[in-house]
Amino acid sequence: MSKVYVFDHPLIQHKVALLRDKKTTTKDFRQLVTEIATLMTYEATRELPTKEVEIETPLERTMVKMLDGEDIAIVPILRAGLGFVDGMLSLIPNAKVGFVGLFRDPTTHLPVPYYCKLPEDIGKRQVFIVDPMLATGGSAVEAINEVKKNGAKNIKFMCLIAAPDGIEAIEKAHPDVDIYIAAKDRQLNDHAYILPGLGDAGDRIYGTK
Ligand code: PRP
Ligand code: URA
Repeated sequence: MSKVYVFDHPLIQHKVALLRDKKTTTKDFRQLVTEIATLMTYEATRELPTKEVEIETPLERTMVKMLDGEDIAIVPILRAGLGFVDGMLSLIPNAKVGFVGLFRDPTTHLPVPYYCKLPEDIGKRQVFIVDPMLATGGSAVEAINEVKKNGAKNIKFMCLIAAPDGIEAIEKAHPDVDIYIAAKDRQLNDHAYILPGLGDAGDRIYGTK
């Protein structure tokens, strides 16, 4: 069964509150997404394996633990997921980055795939699939399908805001995938938008509306 982690850290909650405010500008919205992604990455990587490395301090040789950065892949769901990438790379600069392109059909709310480019060795990596919004869960489930089809075995899904429907959809289709969220919201509206939510994440990050 998927484990669901809700990050209730005050810094994250404060920044999510600013994101939700309709008066927040595109520039500030983008900056906040980067900051929250960085804070969430700090928490979500808590259990990553480390490797022992020998180094020399100014006083003596010693064994230290270092992150095995080559083992990580970040996979944003285009386009809004791109907002996570800079913040995550600032903490894990050696991670590889893949892309899954999906948009939601406005009538059926089902995901329409249009692009997929993943690191060749994704099967050996801890994969973080990232997208600000988990609404019906259709996009996340499809992205996980695609990444698994390409050989990935260790997958985590990270988002800002999740609706109960989206969490259930991942738990049902991919019980091996843990879910990291900044806020769990109440419900979806008739257009499958999250309430209270923050609106259309892609439009708010890129200023397209
Ligand atoms: C948004 C969001 C997710 C998806 C979530 O993308 O970024 O990918 O909707 O909805 P779901 O859980 O019901 O599938 P959108 O389709 O608006 O595409 P965009 O990122 O290109 O704007
Ligand atoms: N996609 C978004 O960008 N926002 C929602 O609330 C639901 C799907």
